[in-house]
Amino acid sequence: MEISPYLTHYEAIVNADALSVAPMVDHTDRHCRRLLRLVGPKATLYTEMIVAQAIVFGNASRLLQFSPEEHPVVAQVAGADPVMLADATQVVAEFGYDAVNLNVGCPSKRVMNGGFGACLMERPDDVFAIVCAMKQATKLPVTVKCRLGTDRVNGYDQLLRFVMGLQECRADGIIVHARIADLSGVSTRFNLNVPPLDWHMVERLQRDIPDIRFTLNGGLTSVSHIKEVRNWIDRVMVGRIALKRPDILAAMHASIFREENDFSPWKVASAYRTYLQEQLDLGVPLRAMTVHLLSLFHGQSGSKHYRRHLSTHASSSAATISTFDNALAELSNNEPDRLSNDHDVSVISAT
Ligand SMILES: Cc1cc2nc3c(=O)[nH]c(=O)nc-3n(C[C@H](O)[C@H](O)[C@H](O)COP(=O)(O)O)c2cc1C
Repeated sequence: MEISPYLTHYEAIVNADALSVAPMVDHTDRHCRRLLRLVGPKATLYTEMIVAQAIVFGNASRLLQFSPEEHPVVAQVAGADPVMLADATQVVAEFGYDAVNLNVGCPSKRVMNGGFGACLMERPDDVFAIVCAMKQATKLPVTVKCRLGTDRVNGYDQLLRFVMGLQECRADGIIVHARIADLSGVSTRFNLNVPPLDWHMVERLQRDIPDIRFTLNGGLTSVSHIKEVRNWIDRVMVGRIALKRPDILAAMHASIFREENDFSPWKVASAYRTYLQEQLDLGVPLRAMTVHLLSLFHGQSGSKHYRRHLSTHASSSAATISTFDNALAELSNNEPDRLSNDHDVSVISAT
């Protein structure tokens, strides 16, 4: 893995992937990752899921372009054809990503109709063929993000066989979203919230096969969760909480990397403002970036007014950096919102 300029060589090896922010379609685009980088300087960031065919035959530059500040950054690819995935992996490597990750967890109907994502868990041999092809295509680490199983194929023994097969293909890491995918026709939102979490299944895997680099994902929403699971696993991935509560992401980051938590939404906003201006100058619409800033001031005085200002004005074709400045001014001009401990991340749903 290429060493991020943010890390010393030693830190990069010891802490590699200790904290990741999950791939999330419609959210973790390059503007979002640039913001996340300011909140979690050492976190590994993921792209949204990108279909291999789109990389190979579409506008790869639009899909894969990122800025050096985003390192360490991993491209997540999806598909079912080993040749297509090998070709996509080569393109990902040319763009300078730090690793490539295969999606074996998306339960959406569209993805299932394409024969990839979570339904691949029911065809482990296909996954092994894909991972072998991806490994042959690159020297980059190749990892897999999967579920515990599906509603039809599940249980510890099948999962153990699956991860051992991945180990034989020399997969460099396995991220487990610790719930099954229900492929019986329920919604994607259901699949993010309803099948019960089972962190202990991942704990058992890590204990049984300690030389596989497992990452635990799913339902980690507080520093106490992180402390609890890091008794038995070195790597964690967080999704929705990172979008909804940057303050909690910063606290998790500080806990994992044993640093002081000096998170300030104002400092983040000030640094991101420079980026906003750069991107506006390049013709990027303001809203493409401010959509990721709505939760930045969660719980702070006037944050409701700040959000309302951005939501109302940032989409206008006349929106400029002043639109953001005026939203920030709403924070100081208004009474405190009611502080809330609400961590309900289930409302962020995949499309
Ligand atoms: C809006 C949204 C989009 C998602 N898109 C992807 C995706 O592109 N690839 C993927 O592997 N998982 C995707 N997921 C699942 C997350 O990566 C993660 O596994 C899941 O949210 C559980 O983690 P959490 O409880 O920390 O949010 C998505 C989840 C959400 C909420």
